Amino acid sequence: MEILNVKNLSKVYGKKIISNALSEISFTIEEGEFVGIMGPSGSGKTTLLNLISTIDKPTSGTISLKGSEPQVLKGDELALFRRRELGFVFQDFNLLETLTIGENIVLPLTLDGVDVEEQEKRLNKVSKILGIEDLLNKRTYEVSGGQAQRTAIARALINNPAIVLADEPTGNLDSKSAQNVMQLLEKINKEENITTMMVTHDPLVASYCNRILFIKDGKIYNEIYKGDGRRQFYQEIMDVLSLLGGTK
Ligand SMILES: Nc1ncnc2c1ncn2[C@@H]1O[C@H](COP(=O)(O)OP(=O)(O)OP(=O)(O)O)[C@@H](O)[C@H]1O
Ligand SMILES: [Mg+2]
Repeated sequence: MEILNVKNLSKVYGKKIISNALSEISFTIEEGEFVGIMGPSGSGKTTLLNLISTIDKPTSGTISLKGSEPQVLKGDELALFRRRELGFVFQDFNLLETLTIGENIVLPLTLDGVDVEEQEKRLNKVSKILGIEDLLNKRTYEVSGGQAQRTAIARALINNPAIVLADEPTGNLDSKSAQNVMQLLEKINKEENITTMMVTHDPLVASYCNRILFIKDGKIYNEIYKGDGRRQFYQEIMDVLSLLGGTK
């Protein structure tokens, strides 16, 4: 089943000095795919993610998620759409320091008025999957970067979103924690069939995906699918990156 359909999507910033951050991008994502977005700095990756996540509005073109078009929604409807259909994971974790790890994870449910029993049930499930069930009463400053990111992933998953959007989720992690987080994202994608779209600069991190879309100058430059395992895929990603040039 098709989850995301992006059609002729363009974003132009500025009125006097016009900069085309994205021009006429089209692609689709099927349910259960794990798609990586790569490309040089300034190529439009974050812009693309911000348009899909409704943080920003397109200049032209359409985005359809599970058949509905989020860019026509406003106010409460838009807030509800974000909370129910999208899961976000950011580079800097974005956890609230005033809440415990557990409270951070269930925050989307609290905001949605889900009853406490149901909250507990879902919290138990996601925290087990992510191996953070012993940290739920800790504060955000008492856990490591890797644990903080696993908390953020748990929060992104708690509402069973249609798609998880991640912008450089391993950008602030050492390579061991980054691999650990990627193994978990891979496992969640496979076992829970969670559709994920992730921006990354790191070819090793990207090799956990099933497909990579490469963007250059606001356009799709190439697209490759994983075939014979992660090591081979890593090599193929490196090959495209060397042709693409200019990755940060
Ligand atoms: N708010 C903005 N106003 C004006 N121009 C912007 C804005 N945001 C991004 N741009 C421009 O749009 C282009 C794409 O930026 P974007 O942030 O999407 O790149 P990126 O691929 O995420 O880069 P990086 O790898 O460095 O994060 C760049 O030329 C950038 O300067
Ligand atoms: Mg970016």
